[in-house]
Amino acid sequence: MKIFLDTADIEEIRTAARWGVLDGVTTNPTLYAKVGGSYDAILEEICRITSGPVSAEVVAEDLEGMLTEGRHFAKLAPNIVVKVPMCETGLEAIARFAEEGIKTNCTLLFTANQGLLAAKAGASLLSPFIGRLDDINQDGMEVIRELVSIVELHDLESEVLTASVRHPRHVTEAALAGSHIATLPFKVLQQMIHHPLTDKGIVQFRKDWEKARAEAAAKR
Ligand code: E4P
Repeated sequence: MKIFLDTADIEEIRTAARWGVLDGVTTNPTLYAKVGGSYDAILEEICRITSGPVSAEVVAEDLEGMLTEGRHFAKLAPNIVVKVPMCETGLEAIARFAEEGIKTNCTLLFTANQGLLAAKAGASLLSPFIGRLDDINQDGMEVIRELVSIVELHDLESEVLTASVRHPRHVTEAALAGSHIATLPFKVLQQMIHHPLTDKGIVQFRKDWEKARAEAAAKR
């Protein structure tokens, strides 16, 4: 399963890239609002850090506006993927982008049926938001399981991107469900690295090493 970072924070993206685990990045208006500045400049910088897909979200709600924003993003770098919300106009925009060879990520999916329609319209990436479903007492992971099965059964070309990830268990379950990608907040990526026994073990090995070296030095 590919791991994307769900952030517009350049330092977080640089760090994950240095760790060797970064396959791509997703941004959205909320994540952009946390860092501010020029959205274009941020996207260009992210695309210099990773050659993987970088999602840039349109905010227009009309077709021409979506197409104008998406075409603009697509010109910023070859790895830009235009993020389009699931709605009637969004489907039309995805179909138009597909005709133009512009890759899209259909966002704000909450059912497998929405994902199926986005795939048929030509979206490269399908983004069900599992955390937001869990928040309202629905099983977000069930949508991932259903959509992965539909993509495989019908040999669709789209990839399932598990979004709205809240904790490391979501990542394990998404991988087991066959999700092609999961996009993670930086904090969840850090949580995946650490385990109390790992951290304790590192400290203990260091202590034992220093003790043995001190004893060896004392015998010389
Ligand atoms: C995905 O592309 C979205 O940006 C993101 O995963 C939404 O997550 P949230 O529900 O934590 O806002």
